[in-house]
Amino acid sequence: MKTIDISALKPAEIQNYLQYAIAPRPICFASTIDKAGNVNLSPFSFFNLFSSNPPLCVFSPARRVRDNTTKHTLENVLEVPEVVINIVNYQLVQQTSLASTEYPKGTDEFIKAGLTAVPSETIRPPRVAEAPVQLECTVRDVISLGENPGAGNLILAEIKLMHIQEDILDADGRIDQAKIDLVARLGGDWYCRVTADNLFKVAKPLTTLGIGVDALPSAIRNSKVLTGNNLGQLGNVEQLPTDEEIEALAIQPEIKEILDATIGDENTRTQQLHLKAKQLLDQGEVFTAWKVLLCG
Ligand SMILES: Cc1cc2nc3c(=O)[nH]c(=O)nc-3n(C[C@H](O)[C@H](O)[C@H](O)COP(=O)(O)O)c2cc1C
Repeated sequence: MKTIDISALKPAEIQNYLQYAIAPRPICFASTIDKAGNVNLSPFSFFNLFSSNPPLCVFSPARRVRDNTTKHTLENVLEVPEVVINIVNYQLVQQTSLASTEYPKGTDEFIKAGLTAVPSETIRPPRVAEAPVQLECTVRDVISLGENPGAGNLILAEIKLMHIQEDILDADGRIDQAKIDLVARLGGDWYCRVTADNLFKVAKPLTTLGIGVDALPSAIRNSKVLTGNNLGQLGNVEQLPTDEEIEALAIQPEIKEILDATIGDENTRTQQLHLKAKQLLDQGEVFTAWKVLLCG
């Protein structure tokens, strides 16, 4: 493993390593205003949700690594502590990138990026009409993380009003994860897009207590076939199948065939059962996989 002492790197190198590793990051497209009423619109991927009660996001306009100057967004929220956080999806990504151009102070990036400003209901900065979700926020605090190039400034934005485009909602009025078509920032010029075909679910039942990987029989835990993901799935069950359930599976033709063909050959039997279990786990059939693993 390559091990790096952070203090031996220049700020630009630190930024490069960390932005590739700590990714993907959601994008906050922040609309702010100065006390003279000039609007500013800029994207920030040092951004996330940190609390739902109070509902609070944090994003960070950093001091420029190049010349240690501060961003207009930071200057604006110090003058007018309000911000609209517009969420960026695939349809918006090129105009969002364009809005990150370092235009002189006072330039309205809504106009530069060709986006539509709509008045907010509770605060002065306008919203981006094209954004699928628009969050009207008041700025609760601004925390400076230093005076050197690259130092962040945490803007704690408390969400007061949420606007959601109707066409990303499902039948229950909730956001459909596939329809919102989110994008996120990674290292360098890389972005990723959250499409229906790369979404997946990980079962995390709040009410049950998984047995844990440490409780798996050693032949399963040390399997040459099963992966770490598979062991995580197996450790997430609360209890193992009963002897009757295992016996019922063992007489199913596909399993019986493996058992009959491997009498006296423990290694082949284990390998074939593990391969079958892996196939089931990859399809999300965790309980059946358990029965296959225990029927040898
Ligand atoms: C997708 C994206 C994400 C960005 N994230 C950040 C960030 O988290 N922090 C930051 O300081 N600059 C970030 N930038 C660069 C700023 O958007 C850029 O410096 C912008 O000009 C700042 O505008 P302002 O001075 O008008 O506030 C990002 C740019 C893009 C395109």
